[in-house]
Amino acid sequence: MKKVLSKLSALAVAGVMTIGMLTGCSSSQPTTTDTNQPAAENTAQEQTASEPAKSSGDTVDIGIVLPTKDEPRWVQDETRFIDALKDTDYSVEILFSQGSSAKEKENVEALLAKGIKVLIICPHDGTAAAAAAEAAKAEGVTVISYDRLITDTDAIDYYVTFDSVAVGKAQGQYLIDKASGTGNPLYLYAGAASDNNAFLFFEGAWSVLQPKIADGTFVIKNSSEAVALQDKATLTREEMSKIISQVTTNWDFNEAKNKAEAHLTAAKPEDKGDVFILAPNDGTARSIANVFTTDKDVTSYVITGQDAEKASIQYIIDGKQSMTVFKDVRTLVKDSIDMAVTVLQGSTPETTGSYNNGKIDVKAKQTEVIVVDQQNVKAALIDSGYYEASEFTGL
Ligand code: BGC
Repeated sequence: MKKVLSKLSALAVAGVMTIGMLTGCSSSQPTTTDTNQPAAENTAQEQTASEPAKSSGDTVDIGIVLPTKDEPRWVQDETRFIDALKDTDYSVEILFSQGSSAKEKENVEALLAKGIKVLIICPHDGTAAAAAAEAAKAEGVTVISYDRLITDTDAIDYYVTFDSVAVGKAQGQYLIDKASGTGNPLYLYAGAASDNNAFLFFEGAWSVLQPKIADGTFVIKNSSEAVALQDKATLTREEMSKIISQVTTNWDFNEAKNKAEAHLTAAKPEDKGDVFILAPNDGTARSIANVFTTDKDVTSYVITGQDAEKASIQYIIDGKQSMTVFKDVRTLVKDSIDMAVTVLQGSTPETTGSYNNGKIDVKAKQTEVIVVDQQNVKAALIDSGYYEASEFTGL
């Protein structure tokens, strides 16, 4: 607590306090630094900031690196980290990589220079982040992969995650439950191929959708690669890669919008009508829904999502997005902080299973997910205290 206090007053001197205020930081909360600013400016601020903190030590115990501030999902995580860390005795700093593996590596190096003992990192690109993890490991730091798995390295100690295969299954099952008859047009979209989760989500969705494609319930309309593989119940990673590279959104709202527009332009009126859309997350779902809603030949659509982002909750209330998969970030934050504190106290954290990252089996703690649509949105997200009713209209 002492260290966090001195660090924050130092940051106020350096003029970074605006960021603390924006993110709701007060004197007992962890530091966040907005890496959206040019790197040189950040460095200058951090150097100035470290001066007054020296007397009580300017080290950081736990470093947290998140992928980008440009997606509400990760701002949600930041907010929940700040809430969870209010009363911690350890000093913590949160940095954002702004969708750049180079920035991510710089962030990890900056945190290592501050003496972190534990690194909680959600990689922008799971494979590229191996270098950052290895740099941390070389300094004796415990590395916790957060939400996304860092792949092809043995420099990971733990993984905290949601059940991502279950996310994809829930999305696919939702489409199935809303469909009747045969020949329903199906549009598939996926996340970024650099994110291991994109494969897990797709694997889960495919496992339930494929039998319903094989029996004629759905007809895939926007992926020749998926059509070529539609008789295979289980796909290899290479096979999934082929489909994902064709229908990826790269987790980017504009890319999702452009792809959806191109698909609808290429589709004939008979490929439209009442359509079913596998959208990988909320941000891309809103972009894709906005495109489908303006096509005169689309008479209705069912579209999936995940993350329970506020904007998508409003879309669900308004009937513009069909469902989301609620991943309670508070649990993931709590699990990773508990893990970090256990390590700092010299004990071994509890885990519930493991994930192979291409090199080793990483000990993991996994959290379940909840399907949310108009029927249960109030119970799941408002009555549970996750959001305030006043944040939405028409509830
Ligand atoms: C996360 C999702 C998120 C997506 C895009 C995934 O790795 O699990 O919650 O929507 O990345 O940022």
